Amino acid sequence: MISKRPPYLPGDRAPANDTARMIRVDQAGEYGATRIYKGQLAVLRRGHAAGAIREMAEQEQCHLAQFDRLATERRVRPTALSPLWHVAGYALGAASALLGERAAMACTVAVEEVIDGHYARQEDDLAGGDPELAEAIRTARADELAHRDTALAHEATEAPAYELISAAIKTGARLAIWLSERI
Ligand SMILES: [Fe+2]
Ligand SMILES: [Fe+2]
Repeated sequence: MISKRPPYLPGDRAPANDTARMIRVDQAGEYGATRIYKGQLAVLRRGHAAGAIREMAEQEQCHLAQFDRLATERRVRPTALSPLWHVAGYALGAASALLGERAAMACTVAVEEVIDGHYARQEDDLAGGDPELAEAIRTARADELAHRDTALAHEATEAPAYELISAAIKTGARLAIWLSERI
């Protein structure tokens, strides 16, 4: 029986187990994001959305670097599923891009919406504890919301079968989060 963890007092550091889990899943997610955009760029290198995708990809690299740094400093082992996210992220990026620029953008909207909810939950769980981790999450989350807006501006919702694509990708992203927190 798992009881709900007590709230931390402001300035407290959340229990190391919890924060290690957070860093592990965030590192995995940001890694996955870099792979999605790599896959998209492999297909859409010369498309009119390439510049925007490249910009988002660069920000994902910064997010990943932050969580890599935290993982190293705190000796958090990466998820054992990295090889899976390496392949699955790239495949998702390439597949969505093959459906067109709007579908690629629909992929970004779906992923970023799930990630936004995920980061929001983590911020709640930290409840003012672990300011260093909280800052990494806050920064990444703000960028993810900007990515979602960029993708919406690129007519993501005009993609063919938008609702279907969106629902499928969101399910996949939630599953990836669930697995990366545990394995
Ligand atoms: Fe990110
Ligand atoms: Fe993002």
